[in-house]
Amino acid sequence: MVRSLWRPAPHRWAKAAIAVAAVLGVATPAARAQSALATPAAPAAAWSASAERGMNVYAARCSGCHSEDAHRVGPLHRGVVGRRAGALADFDYSPALRDSKLLWTRATLAAWLADPEALIPGQGMDYQLEDAREREDVVAYLATLKRPVAPARGR
Ligand code: HEC
Repeated sequence: MVRSLWRPAPHRWAKAAIAVAAVLGVATPAARAQSALATPAAPAAAWSASAERGMNVYAARCSGCHSEDAHRVGPLHRGVVGRRAGALADFDYSPALRDSKLLWTRATLAAWLADPEALIPGQGMDYQLEDAREREDVVAYLATLKRPVAPARGR
């Protein structure tokens, strides 16, 4: 009789356990579900400090010959990560680049920027980016250049 007066109801125990777990930093299933909801999935190529620096590298080192959205001495860059080398029909590539069938990934782009001629002999880009950190940053920037929803040009 007396005991039933002070015994807490079961749901109170559960709440207390969650509170203690929260204080101790223990992830209960409920807490985990909540933080999963609060954290949006990272986009494939997130804007990062590296991409931010890469934008400046691009302006300083690439924009003399390239731009994001128009052909200049070199081809436009939007959508380049994931594209085949030499794939834009309206740019006059060297036969070496067009025939290479290389897929532009972060790794192949870094190798290209380090030494284009070593990667694709006979290519036509007369430029090398010596600094590995700058290569990594500019490639991170290129990865943020998504294709428009309805591409205006190229494929
Ligand atoms: C001196 C001019 C010049 C500079 C500077 C230059 N490029 Fe190029 N780039 C070219 C030319 C020309 C081509 C086409 C090469 C060919 O057809 O073989 C090219 C091709 C490319 C391609 C292949 C694109 C495709 O559609 O296959 C990439 C990627 C590229 N450049 C990235 C860069 C980046 C990043 C920088 C700056 C770090 C840079 N380039 C600096 C002239 C330049």
